[in-house]
Amino acid sequence: MKDFIWNVDTKILFGKDFLKDLPKEIKKHGDRVLITYGGGSIKKIGLYDKVVKILEDANIFYKELGGIEPNPRVKSAREGVEIVRGNDLNFILAIGGGSVIDLSKLIAAATFVEADPWKVVIGEEKIKKALPIGTILTLAATGSEMDAGGVITNPDTKQKLGFGSPILKPKFSILNPETTYSVNEKHTVAGVADIMSHTMENYFTLGDDAYLQNRMAEAILKTCIHYGPIALEEPENYEARSNIMWASSWAINGLLKTGKSTNWSVHPMEHELSAFYDITHGIGLAILTPRFLKYILDDDTVDMIRDFGINVFDIKPTDDKFLDAKKAIGALHQFFESDLHIPMTLEEVGIDDEHLEEMAKRAAEHAGGTIKGVKELNADDVLKIYKDSLF
Ligand code: NZQ
Ligand code: ZN
Repeated sequence: MKDFIWNVDTKILFGKDFLKDLPKEIKKHGDRVLITYGGGSIKKIGLYDKVVKILEDANIFYKELGGIEPNPRVKSAREGVEIVRGNDLNFILAIGGGSVIDLSKLIAAATFVEADPWKVVIGEEKIKKALPIGTILTLAATGSEMDAGGVITNPDTKQKLGFGSPILKPKFSILNPETTYSVNEKHTVAGVADIMSHTMENYFTLGDDAYLQNRMAEAILKTCIHYGPIALEEPENYEARSNIMWASSWAINGLLKTGKSTNWSVHPMEHELSAFYDITHGIGLAILTPRFLKYILDDDTVDMIRDFGINVFDIKPTDDKFLDAKKAIGALHQFFESDLHIPMTLEEVGIDDEHLEEMAKRAAEHAGGTIKGVKELNADDVLKIYKDSLF
């Protein structure tokens, strides 16, 4: 196991009744608040009214930025920075899923930068200071409620890129599984696939001796496999929604990668699909992951993939380890397709071969020339994985 430092200082308030703590938690960090949210789901479920009343009752000054889109666009960050500066705001309360939280992280950092917020995303402006953020999570998926990063889209350049800094970790996150009851089928399963993908990106590494971390990863994967279909069938099943919600935070809060040399592979490939076609992130990941595993299956990776099948999908080991590894990949594909009803081809989500080459080139370029995960992938490798995912 490699040396590591792990420090997540996000306070988690998990359960049905923590909204009332909002003023107390906010006042530890600020008193003039920017509330951020998406296209209106928080209004439909009554959460917006509750939050606003709590802030007003506590005499906390607030302004708001709504309309943040899925695959959030940099233009919303520009608007947010203006509102913050124009009103001397000193705290951001993000209410929503990953898109709202990610965009809020960019506002938090860009407020202290003279240049355009996009320069922060592309790394031309370093993140030295940021407004404190709190979150009320409404969709279990990205783990942005407990991590240091965000992903932002610039439609003008067709780029979707990640940025991050430890100072962007939320100061607190309120996680009430009941707020996810209203998440529709598509975003419920996309969320589960995203959580599984984060876990697998951390899990599939070679030679790290991180036995403990890998068993924890398997527990998260099994949790998703068990509760994902239940949440789909019974959207108001608290047990299912709560286990998925907590899995979301643990998949990406840094614990699973402690002591390991993780470099993510499938996310860089998916971000190009979202950048070009604005598809739902978790759906893209589900489509690509089995094809990626199939592509990297060789003498180096066979034991790793076979163990995944045995420990996560209860595949019975045989003497033919390649056969077992292929069964593992098949089980993952089958789970996404049959249990979560995810469309498992690029064709089904409206992607044809027109931009595959360009996307493959960009995926490699954005990763610094090659994607350096468990197996190094160049543009040609990525193209082959895209092509295999078409039909
Ligand atoms: O906009 P509203 O009206 O709120 O509707 C949203 C949106 O349409 C809806 N929704 C959210 N909570 C709901 C709800 N609908 C009903 N009831 C609720 N309680 O769900 C839709 C999708 O929301 P979004 O926030 O886009 O989903 P998600 O949480 O999956 O976030 C996806 C974004 O996060 C990025 C992705 O690339 C994508 O841009 N990621 C962020 C990461 C991070 N910060 O670490 C890592 C991830 O790998 C990922 O890349
Ligand atoms: Zn993800």
